Amino acid sequence: MSTNIVCLPGDGIGPEVTQSVIQVLEAVAAKYQRSFNIEKHLIGGAAIDVHNNPLPQKTIDACLKADAVFLGAIGGPKWDNPNAKVRPEQGLLKLRSELGVFSNIRPLTVFPNLIDASPLKAEILKGVDFIVVRELTGGIYFGEKKRGEDFATDECRYTVQEVERITKVACELAMQRSKKLTSVDKANVLETSRLWRDVVTQFVAANYPEIDVEHQLVDSCAMKLIQNPAHFDVVLTENMFGDILSDEASVLAGSMGLLASSSLGDACGLFEPIHGSAPDIAGKGIANPYASILSAAMMLRWLNLITEADAIEGAVKQAIENGVLTCDLKPDSQISTQDATLAVIEYLN
Ligand code: IPM
Ligand code: MN
Repeated sequence: MSTNIVCLPGDGIGPEVTQSVIQVLEAVAAKYQRSFNIEKHLIGGAAIDVHNNPLPQKTIDACLKADAVFLGAIGGPKWDNPNAKVRPEQGLLKLRSELGVFSNIRPLTVFPNLIDASPLKAEILKGVDFIVVRELTGGIYFGEKKRGEDFATDECRYTVQEVERITKVACELAMQRSKKLTSVDKANVLETSRLWRDVVTQFVAANYPEIDVEHQLVDSCAMKLIQNPAHFDVVLTENMFGDILSDEASVLAGSMGLLASSSLGDACGLFEPIHGSAPDIAGKGIANPYASILSAAMMLRWLNLITEADAIEGAVKQAIENGVLTCDLKPDSQISTQDATLAVIEYLN
């Protein structure tokens, strides 16, 4: 039986890192006698260029039918006109909402031999290993937007049910880890945050009494993530705070080019690196493919191909430990996207 995977290369370095993922999946298929049926579709700026629509219906239909979806990256200066009617980002937001992938899981680990790649001191980075659980289909990203002559508004809205279902995801992860949960909000200012805090407190008390939950305000959390990142284990937060905090957290790992993510709902799974389309290096063949390859490993794990997922993660780890590093991690490195990809495939075999 073949696993149907839709790949959405998107824009900028998206096609390059997606190509790496396809090569790694082909190697996994050969080694473990699996069959992946990979179909590419348009999203973002690439879709705007062809269809004047960042998420054509054909792409949505293919994603809904697939067993899993991999996305490269979207956006770029070409489509960045602030007055544009259609923007690449709308395609990604619509995709998340059409697939109902409300929970975005962003794990962060620090590879010991990359400690020098981070601007933070080595002692601060010791033992850092946490997961950001970001609500992905609600909040200010999806509220009503208005623009008047001299004003603009973005509505931020959360329902109890939306907060409960993402809290449940975070609790399930916390149960497999150290049973410590940090919920992040801005309850001293925002009504949605006060609802968030109430619901998290009640939901955990009622359903996961073993979990030790603490609440942090997002501003102070942003500081503590840098001051004492080892404190964190599972970090639960709403859509925009999660977006910001996970980029901040990527600095701990040394590069955005290492962070993978999964976005899950009741039925669908969307897997993507957390980095953007990096237009400054697009087309040069030097993008770090590891975040994408690790996202593909998360995809296979979610598809219950555990041995295969472990093998990919092991191979990336080996490549990193052996110093196969692109220039985001080692400034004068000559290692290309393809060199890094082929190293992973070699270690895989
Ligand atoms: C991310 C990205 C997206 C987001 C953008 C491209 C819409 O920054 O996945 O973190 O803000 O969610
Ligand atoms: Mn982001």
